[in-house]
Amino acid sequence: MRIILSESTQEAVTIVATMVTDRISSHPNSVIGLATGKTMEPVYAEWARLAQIQNLKSEKCFFFMLDEYMGLPKGHPASFRTYIEKRVLNPLNLHVDQFSFPPVFADSIHEAASHYELSLKEAGGIDLQLLGIGGNGHIGFNEPGSLKNSRTRLVELTPETRKANESDFPNGDMPMRALSMGIETILQGKHLVMLATGKSKADAIKYLMNHHDDPTCPATFLKSHPNFTLVLDPDAASKINLKI
Ligand code: GLP
Repeated sequence: MRIILSESTQEAVTIVATMVTDRISSHPNSVIGLATGKTMEPVYAEWARLAQIQNLKSEKCFFFMLDEYMGLPKGHPASFRTYIEKRVLNPLNLHVDQFSFPPVFADSIHEAASHYELSLKEAGGIDLQLLGIGGNGHIGFNEPGSLKNSRTRLVELTPETRKANESDFPNGDMPMRALSMGIETILQGKHLVMLATGKSKADAIKYLMNHHDDPTCPATFLKSHPNFTLVLDPDAASKINLKI
């Protein structure tokens, strides 16, 4: 695991956004895995800003989403698809055919999840996977208790995660379930980049630093990956013993 301690949240955000633009610039056919959440919002804004300055062409890239809520109608403001359309697809002038979204509307979710895995494989796998972390150590929607060999599947959201995201659902219509890439799916990415910012992530980061392959904190599974980069702002790093 490579750890980057930044001096500010903005620096951490810029580091991650630059990893994306550098990757696309050097490998225009890249396959990028996209995470959602508040942590990633400024990353996508910075990516769009850098892409415009650099006149970066992204029309040969392909994007896979990590996860999606089950049961939300198309176009729901809190769906991850809406999030990505607003922050990545539209600002970067990309085409919807460049994206693969978790098949939450399929009749047979199990079959569709296997198909999602297959399309990932056919695309050559993910070159760069962006990840956030839940306050309980979840990645994607792989909640505590998820197994290292898990694949894309239906998951139940924990009360903790539902609480953390409830402000996105002012009407109280937050789903109980989601479709998420599994831990093994994520581990097959070639370069995994996790960004954690803010004090609310400090405990999860401390736990991550001190444990390995611990299902109670799914992020610990990432430490066995040969190319895992953890980017922290000062608040997220405030409970670990590392100096900048
Ligand atoms: C969300 C997403 C994750 C995200 C995490 C942290 O619910 N499923 O992909 O990394 O929880 O979210 P945030 O960045 O809003 O704290």
